[in-house]
Amino acid sequence: MPAAEFTLAEMTQWGEALGARLETPCVVTLEGDLGAGKTTLVQAIARGYGVRDAVTSPTFALVHEYRAPRSPVFHLDLYRLEGPHQLANIGWDDVFSSRAVVLVEWPDRAAGELPPATHAIRLSHVPGQPDLRSVNW
Ligand SMILES: Nc1ncnc2c1ncn2[C@@H]1O[C@H](COP(=O)(O)OP(=O)(O)O)[C@@H](O)[C@H]1O
Ligand SMILES: [Mg+2]
Repeated sequence: MPAAEFTLAEMTQWGEALGARLETPCVVTLEGDLGAGKTTLVQAIARGYGVRDAVTSPTFALVHEYRAPRSPVFHLDLYRLEGPHQLANIGWDDVFSSRAVVLVEWPDRAAGELPPATHAIRLSHVPGQPDLRSVNW
């Protein structure tokens, strides 16, 4: 499993490069504690893929959809998911039946309901280095 420690600028650059080479359909999962950089990386990946609109953190909505030249991009933040039963209400079937890029924070909350990840990314804080995050993928 490749690993690296990135500054914010490096994380952004890496995410944009990853986004630029994504092919649909694809599911990118991002695991890591609060503040580990999942949303930051989602924003970079979406930008690299061609999303022009600002990608926000979906506080109440579990899913946000963005347009990009090559396909829709779905951003799922499952932090507040109360259980896999809630997945029926978020248009799950639509999200995964379309040829789309799907970026998922807190994939473990879906308890095995997600299709296999094309890219599984794990982010973590680096002790004593507040400006760095370690990335495993
Ligand atoms: N090397 C880094 N990589 C990513 N984010 C970083 C880094 N250093 C500092 N940060 C900051 O950490 C925060 C990460 O927040 P966020 O992306 O919302 O995390 P999460 O979605 O995992 O809760 C942001 O404020 C970001 O600017
Ligand atoms: Mg987040």
